[in-house]
Amino acid sequence: MTAIKVTKAAHSTLGEVDLNNSVMGKKFTDYMFVCDYHEGEWKNPRIEPLQLIPTHPAAMALHYGQAIFEGMKATLGKDGTPLLFRPDENAKRLNFSADRMGMPLFPEDLFVEALQKFVAIEKNWIPTAEGSALYLRPFMYADEPFIGMRAATSYKFMVIASPAGPFFSRPIKLYAETKYVRAVNGGTGEAKAAGNYAAAIRPTEIAKSKGYDQVLWLDAQNFEQIQEVGTMNIFFKIGGKFITPDLSGCILAGITRMSVIDLLKDKGFEVIERPITLTEVKQAAANGTLEEAFGVGTAVGIAMISEIGNDDFTIKFEHGTPTGEMIQNTLNGIKLQKIEDKFGWIVEAK
Ligand code: COI
Repeated sequence: MTAIKVTKAAHSTLGEVDLNNSVMGKKFTDYMFVCDYHEGEWKNPRIEPLQLIPTHPAAMALHYGQAIFEGMKATLGKDGTPLLFRPDENAKRLNFSADRMGMPLFPEDLFVEALQKFVAIEKNWIPTAEGSALYLRPFMYADEPFIGMRAATSYKFMVIASPAGPFFSRPIKLYAETKYVRAVNGGTGEAKAAGNYAAAIRPTEIAKSKGYDQVLWLDAQNFEQIQEVGTMNIFFKIGGKFITPDLSGCILAGITRMSVIDLLKDKGFEVIERPITLTEVKQAAANGTLEEAFGVGTAVGIAMISEIGNDDFTIKFEHGTPTGEMIQNTLNGIKLQKIEDKFGWIVEAK
């Protein structure tokens, strides 16, 4: 593989952006990383000015959905060095998704190098306000023009970035979905596939129209076992212990999820990864042992949950989310190098 080639942008749009008041995904930085897959090889890795990408109308991603993505955040460390959080884990998960969707694997060392080089170039776009970051969106899609059902033979892997403020500025309400499902064993629920999110859009719109923020997904057979939430994994604190659904084959293996498990254990909490049902949560609410719930994900960070319900029931969390907030502060502190990174999660981008 050749070295990453950089083409300079003629001008920057940074001056047009209020970095510390940015809504994730609305404004994009000056550059994009691109790498092409042809004839069984990844070729021509490059960083070039952000621009439209010519797309054939028969590009297979548009028809059969061979499209996967990752979410990452870059922050600035103590001395202004741009930092990435566990980029090797995103590289691994991208390849897990690629494998499930019949797409080629992307070299993991090139993934990390590309992210480091890209973020070093876009360093001035990293917001400094607490809870803000530069959101990074690595993605891969099939760009071969072909009408027919088989794995494509050409793909693009790209990275774009958008300054992002906090995803939610208040505790959120989850709609426990009992009509639509997100994933079944053997399906694509464990992959970060674009189609998983496409299938969630309509149910999420309905949940929002009922006053909720995101959908709480339940198992497809009985609508009982809790899987995950719209854009995050979920943790419950019951009787002093933390419970999060185990990686059953239907759940995205969140990188924030695995980090929060380590942080909670490090703070002395017991964390159990096991199936947890809605009935168990309702019973814990009824007997007074349900203490907290929060969602965790790259985009949301830690999202405090104030209510879970649907047309048949409501569980309110009335005592706040003190552990969730403590974990949020710890995670943010590590990402800004204000708290020691004893797990070795931070990687400099330079
Ligand atoms: C992330 O948390 O990075 C995600 O990919 C969620 C996204 C759908 C907003």
